[in-house]
Amino acid sequence: MKRSIITTADGSKTIQIEEWSEQYHSVHGALQEAKHVYIKMGLHQFLKDNPNHKQLSVLELGFGTGLNAMLTAIDEMTQHTLISYHGIEAYPISLKELEALDYNALFDSTITFNQLHEIPWNQIHKISSNFQLNKRKEFFSELSESKLFDVVYFDAFGPRVQPDLWTTDMFERVYKAMRPNGILVTYSAKGSVRRSMQEVGFVVERLPGPPGKREMLRASRPA
Ligand SMILES: C[S@@+](CC[C@H](N)C(=O)[O-])C[C@H]1O[C@@H](n2cnc3c(N)ncnc32)[C@H](O)[C@@H]1O
Repeated sequence: MKRSIITTADGSKTIQIEEWSEQYHSVHGALQEAKHVYIKMGLHQFLKDNPNHKQLSVLELGFGTGLNAMLTAIDEMTQHTLISYHGIEAYPISLKELEALDYNALFDSTITFNQLHEIPWNQIHKISSNFQLNKRKEFFSELSESKLFDVVYFDAFGPRVQPDLWTTDMFERVYKAMRPNGILVTYSAKGSVRRSMQEVGFVVERLPGPPGKREMLRASRPA
């Protein structure tokens, strides 16, 4: 499918799948959305609820551009927490697309997006003193861990274009992969998505969404 680069309302870029009119991030602001949904409502909430955790295991469904991984790696709240980050992605972006996104210009960091993208797949790599990354080139349906992840960034394409990724089967798989007390965050607030999550045992909250979106969801695996 043809992918093109577009600029979103906060000035940061994203990728669009033309055939689906679907974007990797919100057109109201890619960077704003990533910071709000995944970092503030996900990562930060977990750290606030579990201040004594010195190690954290994060799973991202849809590694894509690596924006969520970068924000997690450089986050100030996590600098004393050892993070093991697993990013699942079946259709990696090219280095040419990465260059066109110009994401390095958004951050003043010693970690670069090239570093995140150039490491080989399916191996654990130490990116910084507290951040290790395992990019997994596989389908979401191959996820088979049990009780491993504390925080899940559920960032698949929307239910409008990929309804099979927002089903009870998928959420059951993710629920099983999470530790008790783990949380999952996603930009979607669709009623059917919320009900599928509840059906497999998640406790689901509707939260204010990022600019341009009324709501988002956070799902917790009970203790
Ligand atoms: C909304 S985008 C993710 C955006 C990403 N989190 C970022 O910050 O750039 C969804 C991602 O899921 C990937 N994807 C779609 N279907 C998949 C599947 N069945 N298994 C694994 N990855 C898939 C796409 O290639 C795309 O990179």
